[in-house]
Amino acid sequence: MSRIDELLAAMTLDEKIGQLTMVNAGMAVTGPVVTGGGTEAVRRGRIGSFLNLWGAETVHVTQRIAVEESRLRIPLFFAFDVIHGHRTTFPIPLAEAAAFDPDLWEETARAAAIEAAGDGLSIVFSPMIDVTRDPRWGRIAEGAGEDPWVTARLAEAKLRGLHGADLSAGDTVAAVAKHFCAYGAPTAGREYTSADVSERALHEVYLPPFAAAVAAGVVAIMPAFNDLAGVPMTANAPLLRGLLRQELGFDGVIISDYNAVAELINHGVAGDVAEAAALAIKAGVDIDMVARAYERGLPSAIERGLVEVTLIEEAVRRVLVLKERLGLFDDPYRRGIAGGAPGHEQRRVLGREIARRAIVLLTNAHDLLPIAEEIRRIAVVGPLAEANMLGPWAGAGRAEEAVTILEGLRSALANRDIVRAEGVSAGGDDVSGLAAAIDLCRSADLIILAVGETAAMSGEAASRADPGLPGRQRELCEAVLALSKPTVAILSCGRPLMVPWLTDRASAVLVSWFLGLEAGHAIADVVTGRFNPTGRLPVTWPRHVGQVPIYFARRPSGRPAAPTDHYTSKYIDESVTPLFPFGHGLSYTRFTLANLRAEPAALRPDGKLDIAVEVTNAGARDGQATVFLFIRDPVASVARPVLELRSFARIRLAAGACETMRWVLAASDLAFLGPDLKPRLEPGEFDIFAGESADPDRLISAKIRLTI
Ligand code: NOJ
Repeated sequence: MSRIDELLAAMTLDEKIGQLTMVNAGMAVTGPVVTGGGTEAVRRGRIGSFLNLWGAETVHVTQRIAVEESRLRIPLFFAFDVIHGHRTTFPIPLAEAAAFDPDLWEETARAAAIEAAGDGLSIVFSPMIDVTRDPRWGRIAEGAGEDPWVTARLAEAKLRGLHGADLSAGDTVAAVAKHFCAYGAPTAGREYTSADVSERALHEVYLPPFAAAVAAGVVAIMPAFNDLAGVPMTANAPLLRGLLRQELGFDGVIISDYNAVAELINHGVAGDVAEAAALAIKAGVDIDMVARAYERGLPSAIERGLVEVTLIEEAVRRVLVLKERLGLFDDPYRRGIAGGAPGHEQRRVLGREIARRAIVLLTNAHDLLPIAEEIRRIAVVGPLAEANMLGPWAGAGRAEEAVTILEGLRSALANRDIVRAEGVSAGGDDVSGLAAAIDLCRSADLIILAVGETAAMSGEAASRADPGLPGRQRELCEAVLALSKPTVAILSCGRPLMVPWLTDRASAVLVSWFLGLEAGHAIADVVTGRFNPTGRLPVTWPRHVGQVPIYFARRPSGRPAAPTDHYTSKYIDESVTPLFPFGHGLSYTRFTLANLRAEPAALRPDGKLDIAVEVTNAGARDGQATVFLFIRDPVASVARPVLELRSFARIRLAAGACETMRWVLAASDLAFLGPDLKPRLEPGEFDIFAGESADPDRLISAKIRLTI
């Protein structure tokens, strides 16, 4: 008999349910209720895992009770939201995505895993791989943006980094891919509301990153809080058991979201906690996070005949297998180093690198940036210059170690006169500091506006109906712009902020998202020109909230927008184009793309397509170009998007240099889901596009024909 069979044979029902129970130790608050678990419950085998408990000493003390004082000596695992770094806070995932660099995505995940494991953690609730096209939703900050292909690549990179080469090693953690599925499509962008997406959108947009995560060996998945077309994901048997487990072959653990099992009652699909527990376990949810709904509900669900014990045993087996894979049975103390993993200072260097690569330069009129030598006096105004930029999921990051924008600028521009006034606060109505801030600006050669959102305005439960500049920040900006002086706006945010009045009028605007511990240094690197910006938008940037959802992979209309034709697909009060397209991001040099070739011109279904494009650095500085490769199937049995992303790559080029970038696509990359939602290849012409963004006016193209 295997160890797991022996344990299962020896366990009481209460001990089995204990393995399915995760409680919140409360070191961090990540949800509305905190149901701590006492040591006595661990001793009695009533708790299988902890959330929000870390630190080698604390973890080991708790673990010791489980493995030395509980009847069956089953080790616990310890879970935490390590979303963008643990002790070293890296940029938020949306910002990291802007680097379009899977190697870096993996490196930051590896660093986070080393630190998390060093703090005794064995499971982290990431990567978040919800595609979203709605910047009203605060959680857009946590994912890779609007595109399923990019999100799938990010999922793979994060898994490589978190899992390392051997999941049982002491410096790795198990990843939990979340939130399955279509959580990124909440109605009207409001947190926790229903998603109601078509089967096609589900399969084309929301599922691919999860399919990629399963193929890459993810060991745990978290269902979304919301309902999908009326069926809450925590109780969604067809998708969890059917699609995820049976079709995709996922054999890992499904961990409910925070209190989500009990919330099935609020959803209106369960009358009491026993029904809620029965629905969740029947749907395939193995672990109940925080609600203690399994503990409270499963015994009576069994009594009432709502659930078979075998279902509970299957779930326990999966949990024990995960503990085994994590090496916890062999050495329950292998994760956890007194004082945390050494090497934090080196990881800050990585933090600075990824942070500066995440910055997106939106505009730069008359090459105002980098800041010229003649600029001697700089006024830094706005509420975010002295805020820490750790962002909405700061992990175990320490605010006192974070470099603010002001600190970064002061240290990089020590020979300039930098003056500072806040002007207005980030939210609220207080404008009492505005006049003094404007006075200060009058004597400056350059004004830097540090504006945007605070961390609390982004992330979970931070939906915004009007994602502009909160509070009275616009007044501050308008007053500064009215001075007609060179002005740089630095936008700190977890989402695209719809501020066309600012991007049109400020001399330069850069998006600095929430860049983590090294934010200030990274921003200074970019504005001083020490680093030539490389970040590209992973999400289409709308002009107006009324355009949402707006994304590059839209389908063509039967009546495409035509300004002079009334009955066409447009707004009568707003443009149909975004403020900035997906992929947009300037550099201090410029690139040109030419001679796109795709061969063979006639492709067979089992063939390969060689694609090449010449990229020239046509400016005066060395720099890095990011090139996106799109396809379009102009005539198919199902209307295909006007652009579908199939690859991206970066190239470093010295000033004046020209190189050829190459890709190989398989003919199967031209496949799509037919009317029956089954993959198919249809013969005919295809367009291949290359560009630095999804801006249709700046793409170059080639045609090929698929012959069957
Ligand atoms: C709720 C969030 O939806 C989820 O992403 C997170 O992992 C849990 N809270 C735990 O904090």
